Amino acid sequence: MSLLRLDKFLADMQIGTRSQVKQLIRKGRITVDGQICRQPEAKIDTDRSEVTFDKQVISYVHMEYYLFHKPAGCVSATTDRNLPTVMESIDAQRKDLFPVGRLDIDTEGLLLITNDGELAHQLLSPSHHVPKTYYAEIDGIVTDEDVLKFKEGLDIGEKNPTKQAELVILKSNVISQIEVTVYEGKFHQVKRMFEAVGKPVLYLKRIAFGPLTLPDDLKKGEYRSLTEDELEALKNR
Ligand code: URA
Repeated sequence: MSLLRLDKFLADMQIGTRSQVKQLIRKGRITVDGQICRQPEAKIDTDRSEVTFDKQVISYVHMEYYLFHKPAGCVSATTDRNLPTVMESIDAQRKDLFPVGRLDIDTEGLLLITNDGELAHQLLSPSHHVPKTYYAEIDGIVTDEDVLKFKEGLDIGEKNPTKQAELVILKSNVISQIEVTVYEGKFHQVKRMFEAVGKPVLYLKRIAFGPLTLPDDLKKGEYRSLTEDELEALKNR
């Protein structure tokens, strides 16, 4: 059972700000289990109580989990002074959502968006080594020697070399195509790893994050809720 103050319940469900919902409560526009409730501090059982606003039932949503196909040109943040953020593409019930980790402004691909702080913390914790796989196009001929260097660890200007990463060459040419899986999340990690072998990244897209993969039918800028299986896999990893 989860007990919440009535005003918080309504504010969490975007009925209004905390002070706006207090007004609605005092005006008698909210019922709890069939009775008008005029106490903002009344305790609501989010699983059992039936709350209505102007006769519309308001169900409580605790956690939301979205898989977003981030396009280039937006920042992985909840707010930004100048640039569009990934949150502007998400029309969700809760306003406390945030992106789990960061993709650079020019990076595309899979971004998890949730309000589950505990899960986000686990997934981002360096000790959990969540694998992240990227598809990239590289300016230069990527070789088997690079594959070995990525496996052994590269000096990207940090105290320690990068952890073992799996580099797979899809096409080796003046512009190469690769997939790389990394188990850490340093700032500009993939770009800096390729810089360390003298071959700049031209295009970068995240195609997997832990057990989640970017669905083929999810277009850039689109998002969908995680399935129950995806959520379970993420929580049990
Ligand atoms: N590595 C990068 O260099 N950029 C990203 O956006 C993600 C990983």
